[in-house]
Amino acid sequence: MKYIKKKLTIDRVTIQNIAKKFDTPAYCYSYNQLKKNIDNFKKSFKSFSPLICFAIKSNTNVNLIKEISKFGLGADVVSLGELMKALKAGIKPNKIVFSGVGKTSEEISFAINKKILLINAESKSEILEIERIAKKNKKSVDVGIRFNPNVDAKTLSQISTGKKENKFGIGEKDFLELTKYIKKSKNLNLKCLSVHIGSQILDVKPYENMLQALNKIIKKANYSFEYIDLGGGMGIDYKNDKKMLNLKNYSKNIKRFLKNHNSKIIFEPGRSIVGNIGTLISRVTYIKEGHNKNFIILDVAMNDLMRPALYNSKHRIMPATKIGKKVKKTYEFVGPICESTDKFLTINNFQKLFEKDLIVICDVGAYGMSLSSNYNVRPKPIEILIKNSKIKVINKRQKLTDIV
Ligand code: LLP
Repeated sequence: MKYIKKKLTIDRVTIQNIAKKFDTPAYCYSYNQLKKNIDNFKKSFKSFSPLICFAIKSNTNVNLIKEISKFGLGADVVSLGELMKALKAGIKPNKIVFSGVGKTSEEISFAINKKILLINAESKSEILEIERIAKKNKKSVDVGIRFNPNVDAKTLSQISTGKKENKFGIGEKDFLELTKYIKKSKNLNLKCLSVHIGSQILDVKPYENMLQALNKIIKKANYSFEYIDLGGGMGIDYKNDKKMLNLKNYSKNIKRFLKNHNSKIIFEPGRSIVGNIGTLISRVTYIKEGHNKNFIILDVAMNDLMRPALYNSKHRIMPATKIGKKVKKTYEFVGPICESTDKFLTINNFQKLFEKDLIVICDVGAYGMSLSSNYNVRPKPIEILIKNSKIKVINKRQKLTDIV
């Protein structure tokens, strides 16, 4: 995204142009940025060529997943719906892994029938259920066990998943027992050790601790896993201050780890693939002047982008046209929903805004549209992909008639 003659553009298409053609609010994704992210991810880890399974939950747009699959990525899914979308987007079953603590019998049966690469189980009960269904269908099923390494990911508590108080994965004692159990099973093949300690991780240290914990447990289990699935969680630069996870550094740590283990690495990245490819275009509906701050009331709300309300996350806001004249007042960018958490950002010294002006909210490609809802009976935004400077609608705006 950059300004050309004061107009903000995505791959040379102006925000004005998009808003004029498709109205607002609109999610807009950059294919160029997607390609850059995937190339960079592959390059960073190329010394051990991992299987990269895109975490579908971060962006569930089938047309976007189709583009991602063309780069050879697989998928990490956590529900039947996500699995169906991954398949619909053309991802081959032998590149799909299934995570999650509560897979139902229906979900397990479907995954077994489709012969996906791995079902990563998160409890003894789940292993027994997979075994029961496999036996009934006279099948032998490849599974992984998700280990809980009790490691602090040093990220938001709401998106930490690797500590023992979290519901995810299995602790050491149960892990060792389950490993023995599966080794004897006729219907289960233990192929993978999986782990995922959290999301938006900026420092490589938690990953180092995680790899150490894996070393220990593998030694204790005395088992050679064909796959080690390290999950996702690689953090991105939301603040535009160049602070993001150093992938090359993480890669070095994994290379060292692999000296003692002859396993294929799987990753499940979501945010690091699609986070910075998405922009949410919005129009200022009203400006309400307050005593020491002005409320900029947008046509986009917390139902369209939940992250600020849910995690107090800060997404940068930029004007669609640069005028340069800054105001001394504080601007609070809010949505129209009747909740005080329906606000996006408070900014001092923004440029002067007027009603009907266009602004964009940055870095919303991951957990933006996928977390949206119809709260307040608001139809979901349109989704657009810009590829080679061409605009393509990849999901129509929901019609009010569909939801009323
Ligand atoms: N694998 C598993 C098992 C996961 O639970 C997740 C994310 C991922 C992979 C992908 O993580 P990523 O690379 O995207 O960090 N809604 C929150 C994020 C929740 C993440 C949940 N699990 C947010 O908007 O920040």
